[in-house]
Amino acid sequence: MLSGKNILIGVTGSIAAYKTALLVRLLVKEGANVKVMMTKSATEFITPLTLSTLSKHPVFIDFVNDSSGSWNNHVDTALWADLMVIAPASATTMSKMANGLSDNFLVTTYLSAKCPVMVCPAMDVDMYQHPSTKKNIDALASFGNIIINAAHGELASGLVGEGRMAEPEDILKEITAFFLHSQKLKGKKVLVTAGPTLERIDAVRYISNHSSGKMGYALAEQAVRMGAEVCLISGPTHLHPNANLKLVKVESAKQMFDATVAIANGYDIIIMAAAVADYTPKSVSNQKLKKSDEDLTIELVRTQDILATIGASKKFHQTLIGFAMETHNEEKFAQEKLQKKHLDFIVLNKLNDEGAGFKGDTNKISIFDKNNNVRNFELKSKQEAALDILNYAIELK
Ligand code: CTP
Repeated sequence: MLSGKNILIGVTGSIAAYKTALLVRLLVKEGANVKVMMTKSATEFITPLTLSTLSKHPVFIDFVNDSSGSWNNHVDTALWADLMVIAPASATTMSKMANGLSDNFLVTTYLSAKCPVMVCPAMDVDMYQHPSTKKNIDALASFGNIIINAAHGELASGLVGEGRMAEPEDILKEITAFFLHSQKLKGKKVLVTAGPTLERIDAVRYISNHSSGKMGYALAEQAVRMGAEVCLISGPTHLHPNANLKLVKVESAKQMFDATVAIANGYDIIIMAAAVADYTPKSVSNQKLKKSDEDLTIELVRTQDILATIGASKKFHQTLIGFAMETHNEEKFAQEKLQKKHLDFIVLNKLNDEGAGFKGDTNKISIFDKNNNVRNFELKSKQEAALDILNYAIELK
């Protein structure tokens, strides 16, 4: 699968460095050409000899090899790589990468790279949670680096939490998926809406829903990984996109309508994953409403349907995808929305299916398309479900 691919692994100072030996072995077994660079502190966790033996190439540590006087060329090394993988990526190295502090061979090579870069953070739970680490990871994502989030579990320190480097087998899966999918949406523009909307009642109160935005963010991030130029229009969420995309933050259904309809014409694939409010208060008080002894009635008016509006003037080159989240008569309602909104296909979540729905990290979807095809998918992570949806969009005639 990885035959002939040049993969440059960067190893930094974290106890997870011992796992990188297995990653290198797995990559070589898959036919990849692997070269390894290490920071000085990485060499205190695992020997260069281990990694040079497994990769079948000398390991890069310094610019100059003291014993022979020969030197390592960071530019040539970076240009050799089809993919650079920093595993484990310590807090220090990510901080240097985010700020361009090129005081060693690894970071200098990173700055010289033209190929995509995958970053696999590993550190203790509190370091991983620190705002400074989060800021650096966000910065790397905004440069277009692919972040393989650290996993939850027991850490070498004995603490339990997020911070474990992803397992070598999982990183291998990500690398394989990267080469498989990286070009599929090259040259395409993808527009995604995500999250809930928030409809203000007064200065302190609002109507909203439980949407976390995770499905829409996963779709936008996956589309970037498949080579697309992506715009993500998001209602209020706590998420940060782990990818290089254009993020437009909105609050209300009206703001989401205006932002989306204004640019939709220029996009090839449009996916409306947002849970847009169907009703909004007729009038909004700028002051906090004071209670009285009477019951309160709030008059709500209909919002405009973004998806239906775009569907009504859909261009030939565009693929339009909607979502339906239903609790009963699921298939019937999904089919009706497909027809009414002129969609190419609709993704159905049945709220009663275990693992499906708003908040979690998994989803169980069914796709109904304009040619009357129905495909049911297994329960999967939202990232994997996003891949299925984008592949369906690519394959649909
Ligand atoms: N949608 C939209 N604009 C709206 C409302 C919904 O773009 N104002 C989109 C959603 O992003 C989703 C799909 O339409 O892709 C959901 O369809 P909809 O019929 O609005 O679903 P519900 O709001 O759940 O409607 P109902 O209460 O009729 O089930």
